[in-house]
Amino acid sequence: MYPIVDHEVLAPRVHRLRVQAPVVAEKAKPGQFVILIIDEKGERVPFTISDWDRDAGTVDFVFIEVGKTTRQLAALQPGDELLSFIGPLGRPAEVDHYGHVVTVLSGYGIAATVPIIRALKEQGNTVTTIVQAPDRERLFGQKPLEELSDQLILALGTRGDGMMESTTVAVRKLLDAHPRKRIDRVVAMCSLCLMRVLSEMTRPLGIKTMVHLTPVMVDGTGMCGACRLSVGGTNRFACVHGPEFDGHEVDGWEVLMARRCTYADESILQQGFQCRGCSQW
Ligand SMILES: Cc1cc2nc3c(=O)[nH]c(=O)nc-3n(C[C@H](O)[C@H](O)[C@H](O)COP(=O)(O)OP(=O)(O)OC[C@H]3O[C@@H](n4cnc5c(N)ncnc54)[C@H](O)[C@@H]3O)c2cc1C
Ligand code: FES
Repeated sequence: MYPIVDHEVLAPRVHRLRVQAPVVAEKAKPGQFVILIIDEKGERVPFTISDWDRDAGTVDFVFIEVGKTTRQLAALQPGDELLSFIGPLGRPAEVDHYGHVVTVLSGYGIAATVPIIRALKEQGNTVTTIVQAPDRERLFGQKPLEELSDQLILALGTRGDGMMESTTVAVRKLLDAHPRKRIDRVVAMCSLCLMRVLSEMTRPLGIKTMVHLTPVMVDGTGMCGACRLSVGGTNRFACVHGPEFDGHEVDGWEVLMARRCTYADESILQQGFQCRGCSQW
């Protein structure tokens, strides 16, 4: 069993859980995820690791309440236990010295990208971070981003197109200054539709754009095929070949979005998410 050692509410419906899981903490790298099961009746649900402490043997993840499992998780308190907590899964995010990296974050990506930005800074990169949120009430996690990033841009907007526009306008300004103020790479962990738009914005400029794709997963080890997607004309499994992919090589956006929407319902839209297929703002 995996005890919960801390539970913090970061914003309405946004929670951070800290779980005692020494084996996961020992091996975790930026961009990797876990699959947990709450109890014997629980589903397997993936979450991106947002921090870890190897000495204490703890692993953090941040989640947004969207459905059954995330609502159950929101009710757990320190002392409660998870039945299963498997990880770290997936390939770590690519990190090297690139120069100037722009990161675009929303929803749980605001917290889950922090280890990637930390690693990028350790490699001597300059990092500009754009954070998208529907409103100030749901903005969280600014402090570590301010400390780590050379520039932090807040893109606040209303739900739907307005929210997307608040971010694309900020990105467009940075792209217009390129190559005078050069951008060497973009890393995006935000809604599927925004990652797709960003990839198209950077494609003509040849700026490599890494996107974090989260199709519905079941086993998380490449066995079931649930998370299949097409990248560079080849079938890939997000759980073992990703979740980070080169956005310019993803040629299955339509399929990816259609499959995500299959499991969506009106309650997702009502919660102010950007579209049905996303549990991201
Ligand atoms: C690799 C990976 C990493 C993830 N990391 C995080 C994270 O750090 N924090 C976080 O809050 N969420 C994360 N997600 C999404 C998270 O797994 C889903 O929000 C969760 O499965 C919803 O479960 P539920 O039972 O609460 O909702 P359900 O009742 O199962 O579904 C409610 C709605 O959530 C959406 N949903 C269902 N499954 C997924 C999915 N796999 N991805 C996205 N949306 C989904 C659907 O639109 C559905 O209508 C990640 C997903 C993947 C694949
Ligand atoms: S979740 Fe089964 S192959 Fe990726």
